[in-house]
Amino acid sequence: MGRDLHLFPLSVLLLSSLAAATAAKSADEGTIFDLAKSLSNLPSSWGAGSDVCVFDGITCERGGSGRVTIINLRDKGLTGTLPTSLSSLTALKELQLQGNALHGDFPSLAGFTDLTRLVLDGNGFTSLPSDFLKDMPSMQYLSLENLPLKPWAVPDAIVGSSSLETFSASNASIVGAFPAVLANLSSLKSLRLSYNKLTGGLPAGLAELIALENLQLNNQMSDGKLSGSIGVVAAITKLKLLWIQSNKFTGPIPDFSNSQLEVFNVRDNRLTGVLPASLFEIKTLLNASLTNNHFQGPMPNIHNVSVDLVGDTVSRFCLAKPGPCDPLVTTLLEVAAGFGYPAELAETWNGNTPCGNWIGVICSNGNVSIFYLHNRGLSGTISPAIANLTGVGKLDLSDNHLTGVVPDALTTMSNLKLFDVSNNSLNGELPMFKPTVKVLAEGNRFGESGSGSESDSSLSNSEAAQK
Ligand SMILES: *[C@@H]1O[C@H](CO)[C@@H](O)[C@H](O)[C@H]1NC(C)=O
Ligand SMILES: *[C@@H]1O[C@H](CO)[C@@H](O)[C@H](O)[C@H]1NC(C)=O
Ligand SMILES: *[C@@H]1O[C@H](CO)[C@@H](O)[C@H](O)[C@H]1NC(C)=O
Ligand SMILES: *[C@@H]1O[C@H](CO)[C@@H](O)[C@H](O)[C@H]1NC(C)=O
Ligand SMILES: *[C@@H]1O[C@H](CO)[C@@H](O)[C@H](O)[C@H]1NC(C)=O
Ligand SMILES: *[C@@H]1O[C@H](CO)[C@@H](O)[C@H](O)[C@H]1NC(C)=O
Ligand SMILES: *[C@@H]1O[C@H](CO)[C@@H](O)[C@H](O)[C@H]1NC(C)=O
Repeated sequence: MGRDLHLFPLSVLLLSSLAAATAAKSADEGTIFDLAKSLSNLPSSWGAGSDVCVFDGITCERGGSGRVTIINLRDKGLTGTLPTSLSSLTALKELQLQGNALHGDFPSLAGFTDLTRLVLDGNGFTSLPSDFLKDMPSMQYLSLENLPLKPWAVPDAIVGSSSLETFSASNASIVGAFPAVLANLSSLKSLRLSYNKLTGGLPAGLAELIALENLQLNNQMSDGKLSGSIGVVAAITKLKLLWIQSNKFTGPIPDFSNSQLEVFNVRDNRLTGVLPASLFEIKTLLNASLTNNHFQGPMPNIHNVSVDLVGDTVSRFCLAKPGPCDPLVTTLLEVAAGFGYPAELAETWNGNTPCGNWIGVICSNGNVSIFYLHNRGLSGTISPAIANLTGVGKLDLSDNHLTGVVPDALTTMSNLKLFDVSNNSLNGELPMFKPTVKVLAEGNRFGESGSGSESDSSLSNSEAAQK
C-alpha cells in the first residue's frame, strides 16, 4: 500500500515526461508541415507521407526523442516565408537556409540552447526578432550575409553565445557604433562586418579577442564610416587577415612586431605617419594594400611582400626611393609623432621640403625660425625632438589639448625668445627656461601629476616659473 503510494507519483512523472516528449515530437512534425505549406520549390520528398524525418534536408534524433535536430535547405531555390511555429523546434542543432529567396520576418529562436549553426545568407528577410540570439549558449557559427534587413544593432544577448567562432554579417544593415559586446566573445576566430553602416571607433576591448584570425570591417556605408585609431588591431596577435579598407581611420599604423599577419588591407583611409618598418618585417606577410592614405616620411624598404602602394600616396614620401629624409623632415615628423600624426598637419607635412610648404613651419635661411601651431586641435605630447629645431625663436603651441610634460630639452634651445603653451592640459613641472625667454603657460595643469583630475584651474605663468 505504502509502496504503491510512493510509486504513484513516479509513474505519473514517467508518463508525463513521455507524454511531453511525444507532444514535442508531434509539435515538431506540425511545424515541418507548416513549413511545407509556407515554402515553394521544396524537394519532392516533402510531398510524400507523414514521416517528416525522411524529408530531404530534415534530420531527426534517432532512437530518443525523435525530435527535429537539423534543417538544411541550402541552395534549394526556395521562396516563401517562415512560419512562427519555427520557434517551437527547440531541439534544433543546425538551421541552414542560405542561398534561397525567403522573405518576411525571421521568427524568434530564443532559448534554442542546442543550436550550433545558423546560416541565412542571401535571403530576403526584412526583420530579425527583438529577442534575436537570446539564450543560444551552443552557437558556434552564425552567418547573416547579404540580407535586406531593416537597420538593426547587434544585440548584447550575443554575449551568451560564448563559444561563437564565426560571426559573419556583411551587408546586413547593421547600424550604430561598433558592437563593443563582441569583444567579450573570446572564442571568435572570424568576424566579418563589411558593408554595413557602422560608425565611430574600434573599442579597446578588441585586444581581448585572443583567438581572432580574420577581421573584415571594410567599406562601411554610413557617412561617418569607421574612424579613429587602428592601434588596437596590433594587439590582436593571432590575426592573419585584416580588411579595414574604405573607412575613415586616422593616425599611424601601429607596431606589428608580434604579428602573424598574412593579408593587410588599409587602403582608402586617412592614415598618417611614418610607415613602421616592423610592418614589412612580418615574416608571414604576403599582401599589403596601402594606397590612398596620407603617409609621411621615408618610403619603406619592401622585400617579399606584394604591396599596393601607388599614386599620390607614393608622391607624399620624402624621396622616390627608400632612404632617410632630410634631417629637418625627420625632426619635424618626430614632433608630429608626439601629436599622433594629426590629419591636419599631414595635409601639408609631406615631401622633403618643410620650409615654405608645411603648416606652422616658418623658415629663415633653411632653419625653422618660427614654429606656430596655435589652436590646431592638437592632442598628444610635446616631443623632445623640438629641441633639435635650434633656430626657432618663437615656439607657439597654445590653445590645443596637449598633455604630458614640457620636456627639459626645450630649455637648451639657444635662439628661443618666446615659448607659449597656454591653454593645454600639460602637467608636471614647467622646466626652468633662461630669463631671456618669455614663457606663457597659463591654463594648464602644472603641479598635478599624470592623469585623473578634472580641474583645469592650475595657473603657472612665466613669473611663477622663473622664481
Ligand atoms: C548586399 O545585399 C544585397 C541583397 O540584400 C545585394 O543585392 C547587394 O549586391 C549586396 N551588396 C554587396 C556590396 O555585396
Ligand atoms: C563585456 O565585458 C565587459 C568587461 O568584462 C563587461 O563590463 C560587460 O558588461 C560585458 N558585456 C556584456 C553585454 O555582458
Ligand atoms: C592582395 O590584395 C589585393 C587587394 O586586396 C587582391 O586583389 C589580391 O588578390 C591579393 N593578393 C594575394 C596574393 O592575396
Ligand atoms: C625573400 O625570399 C627569399 C626566398 O624565399 C629569401 O631567400 C630572402 O631571404 C627573402 N628576403 C628577405 C629580405 O626576407
Ligand atoms: C636630435 O638630433 C640628433 C641628430 O640629428 C639625434 O641624434 C637626436 O636623437 C635628436 N634628438 C631628439 C630629441 O630627437
Ligand atoms: C641652422 O641650424 C644649424 C643646425 O642646427 C645651426 O648650426 C645653425 O646655427 C642654424 N643657423 C641659424 C641661422 O640659426
Ligand atoms: C587662453 O584661454 C583664455 C580663456 O579662454 C583666453 O582668454 C586666452 O586668450 C587664451 N590664451 C591664448 C594664448 O590663446
